[in-house]
Amino acid sequence: MPAPNNHGMARTFHTPDWDTYRMDYGRPHLAVEPLAREIAVVDDALAALHDAGVIPHARYDGDRFLAHRRAVAERFEIPWTAITPRMQRLLYALNAITRPPYLLAAGVFCGNTFIANAGAAVGPGAVYAAAHCIGVEIKPEEAERAERNVRRLDPTGIAHVVAADAVEVARAFPHSIGLLYLDADGDAARGKGIYYDILDAARDRLRPGALILAHNSINCADRLQHYLAHVRDPRHFRESVHIMLDGEGLEVTCV
Ligand SMILES: C[S@@+](CC[C@H](N)C(=O)[O-])C[C@H]1O[C@@H](n2cnc3c(N)ncnc32)[C@H](O)[C@@H]1O
Repeated sequence: MPAPNNHGMARTFHTPDWDTYRMDYGRPHLAVEPLAREIAVVDDALAALHDAGVIPHARYDGDRFLAHRRAVAERFEIPWTAITPRMQRLLYALNAITRPPYLLAAGVFCGNTFIANAGAAVGPGAVYAAAHCIGVEIKPEEAERAERNVRRLDPTGIAHVVAADAVEVARAFPHSIGLLYLDADGDAARGKGIYYDILDAARDRLRPGALILAHNSINCADRLQHYLAHVRDPRHFRESVHIMLDGEGLEVTCV
């Protein structure tokens, strides 16, 4: 792990209500705000990412996204999730806009985050054909549930979940990665600090223009200090933008 540095200033997009916008973690499909407001917030976030040169454009198919959202609500077993409706839409849109052939998601729990990341590649929200989307979850029983959930939405197997340590999977992944999603909460020593280890293990296979998405950039900022300093340092990555549209946050970094 590198020493913390102060080179990278956080480039930030934030909504005025990021710290008061709240979901019920146990009722993930409950509307939190009018749909038009959710769409406007995510459009603004995408515009900020486009302005920063992180994504090539800011357009995605809103009807396809709603088909994806409906299928997840009908087919997934989700005991709880901290993925807010805004974040679900943003993750889907980033997948739809960047269309990575290979996608790796680390720490997927019941699969809800993973399917938001891969929702533009498989199932009713698909807008492109990916080669392989892999979700990694270290707890075997959670990985089994996540895989069950994903199979109900993607019969092809292009998206699937494995029970393993994301650091090891990232190190051995044989393809060029277009999107790396980080959500693993590690062990007692590292906690979310494990994001740095997963990124480090995958680093030489991240293709130019790849996105690295780090969830909990707000509420786990303490444990993510080293990670955030690293990705915000322009000597390491082309651009990094802190998206604050809910209380969890998402750091979006571009290779
Ligand atoms: C807090 S959950 C993510 C939940 C997600 N943000 C949501 O709202 O649905 C983090 C997951 O990472 C998993 N995890 C922890 N360390 C891991 C590792 N080294 N590799 C893969 N998964 C890991 C945990 O078992 C846990 O299910």
